[in-house]
Amino acid sequence: MKNKETENKIEALLKELTLDEKISMIHSAEFFRSGGAERLGIPGISMNDGPMGVRNDFEPDKWVTIGSTADMTSYLPSNSAIAATWNRELAHTSGAVLGREARGRGKDMILAPGINIKRNPLCGRNFEYMSEDPYLIAEMVVPLIEGIQENDVSACVKHFACNSQEYERLFVNVELDERTLREIYLPGFEAAVKRAHSWALMGSYNLVRGVHGSQNKWLLTDILRKEWKYDGCVVSDWGAIHDTKLAAESGLDIEMSVTPNFDEYYMANPLKEAIKKGEISEECVNEKIRNILRFMLRVRLIEIELKEQKNGKVKAKAVRVPDRDPGCVNADVCHAFVRKTAEEAVILLKNDKKILPFKPSETQKLLVIGDNANRAHAAGGGSAEIKALYEKTPLLGLANEYGGNTQVKYVKGYYVPRKKADLVNWQESSINIEELNNDTRKKSGYSAEEKKLIKKLKDEAVALAKEYDKVIIVGGLDHDLDVEGKDKENLKLPFGQDELINAVLDVNPNAVVAMVSGSPVDMSAWKDRAKAILWMSYNGMEGGAALAEVISGSIVPSGKLPESLPADFKDTPVAKYGDYPGRKLTAAEKKVMNARLTQRFNEGVFVGYRYYEKEGVKVQFPFGHGLSYVDFAYSGMKVEKTKSGFNVSVQVKNTGHVAAKETVQLYVGEKKVSKENPVKELKGFDKAEIKPGQSKTYKFKLNAKDFSHYCEESGKWEMMKGEMVIYIGASSADVRCMKTVKI
Ligand code: BGC
Repeated sequence: MKNKETENKIEALLKELTLDEKISMIHSAEFFRSGGAERLGIPGISMNDGPMGVRNDFEPDKWVTIGSTADMTSYLPSNSAIAATWNRELAHTSGAVLGREARGRGKDMILAPGINIKRNPLCGRNFEYMSEDPYLIAEMVVPLIEGIQENDVSACVKHFACNSQEYERLFVNVELDERTLREIYLPGFEAAVKRAHSWALMGSYNLVRGVHGSQNKWLLTDILRKEWKYDGCVVSDWGAIHDTKLAAESGLDIEMSVTPNFDEYYMANPLKEAIKKGEISEECVNEKIRNILRFMLRVRLIEIELKEQKNGKVKAKAVRVPDRDPGCVNADVCHAFVRKTAEEAVILLKNDKKILPFKPSETQKLLVIGDNANRAHAAGGGSAEIKALYEKTPLLGLANEYGGNTQVKYVKGYYVPRKKADLVNWQESSINIEELNNDTRKKSGYSAEEKKLIKKLKDEAVALAKEYDKVIIVGGLDHDLDVEGKDKENLKLPFGQDELINAVLDVNPNAVVAMVSGSPVDMSAWKDRAKAILWMSYNGMEGGAALAEVISGSIVPSGKLPESLPADFKDTPVAKYGDYPGRKLTAAEKKVMNARLTQRFNEGVFVGYRYYEKEGVKVQFPFGHGLSYVDFAYSGMKVEKTKSGFNVSVQVKNTGHVAAKETVQLYVGEKKVSKENPVKELKGFDKAEIKPGQSKTYKFKLNAKDFSHYCEESGKWEMMKGEMVIYIGASSADVRCMKTVKI
């Protein structure tokens, strides 16, 4: 929202700037800082990743970390973990912690949150993203961004748009119809921009309809700037600009990249020359400067001072804001918030015979098996990496939770071959695709020695599992697989985990399995045998403690899946209708930065549960699923017509013996489902704590848009007509009540 007085000041300062100064402000001067105009007191904008905390600092022009302890920071739960809480308040506090720490580390913009749609379960960056559902994303991203921006620092919602795979991410061209774009891929961004007023946004690497996201006029100018009236700051992804004219004439403001030749960037000298030759108008740059100065005022990086000269002319300059929020890093209160989020991000997928919790009073000996029980994850994943002040692994969490009266024994169980440690950060070669796809992790062919070790680890775990009555296996993925820059090859659990889990279950059928993973994995080899299964993403520095609290019962689990968990890639809509992964590009093709690899999002709006429900495809666990240690009884659903739509309410009773939280989900669909529409879609959810034996009324409001679809011909949202069903459920597959209404 523009303010006239502010805009006048911006205009006055803009007039003072030379072309050289303007050019320096619209591209990097360091890897994580844009240029400024010192003469007028305008600093550069200091940025940093990322989604899971404030990333470690780098040298200005080398991908070498500064190597001090000053950038040790809080490690927050990933966005997929935050989404698993279904708790808007926790999204807000997570944002508040991230913003406070970003400011505490002197940043102006935190390159988060990442909210791309989890279209493809193989996408390496799924752990950074929230969900397959646009409504859940929109509802969680708004408080998250608001929380960040309470701290005189900006969020930077990314990657706009359709960045749903890492394979050939610089080259992949997405073709999709407009209804799909509007209903699935844009709502999160639209909410971030219109409701949360995100002060910054990052374009994507991939192309959309033939043009790279970060220089795409249709996305950045027509939709973002003109239609959504966005007046914030748009930055490119690092190395996502490939054409001076396209970038200059699109809604982009700042070009960032990963090479230190800053003056040669597309929006540096080449743009200056093009302007001088009259090929590009200087007004394009002026518009970017207005957005950048507005950004600086919003985060209170500067104030603009106007001074009348003797000759009556007004001179403008930028001055520092003395009382800007200083932020703060690693405050205990922030770690406590991180813990709360982690607690609600643990999902209980299965709990036959109520085998969990393992009460401390009944647990004298606890056997913990699995590499992930003892592994810290913060330092991996790509740009989401964090130099965590500390990270409580599940093993440490369990040892602390159970204390001295329980003997906690740990064995590794499975062998994880590691990559050779890189001397420089992966980001240096992140726009060199040859290197990116060069997976150095050993895929097959273990040495005789390794084979011996694998057998030894398994035998040791199995032998102990026979003796212990309480056994937990903690497995899943790690950031060699849930990682930026490449996708997974399949959904299989790596490192022989299936064999290990089955061998342990053979001797101890009560062993509980916990999976740490940012994306679906195939659990079918043992899913029906294990009595209890827990699921968590990368849940931050307190993640292991939170898992332990759920296992012991001091916390009642309340997370729910923000995505469906298919067992096999071939079950997914991408496999059925898409082109993924497509052929390999040749080196010659890669030299021309243009789309050669098109991904048609032919499944349209049928992403995630919208597809599985429509086509009756079985998944391991459905969207929205998550159990508690208590049961909830749903009753008395009411629907009332209002002027603008419907009020819906339902009573939920906690029939158990402890207080517990339940997330009630509301879905809407046609009674007679037409071919082009999903069976039902999420349109509301609410989470609340209910005391044992007590009931709570959950209330929802539905409006016309909740019953509408985007019509490509008219370019408008149009209401469906006829009989519609409002479903209330504990998950997408666990519908407890429903009512039909007429529209
Ligand atoms: C990622 C962005 C990140 C940027 C800066 C890119 O590789 O795609 O998400 O913010 O690097 O590190």
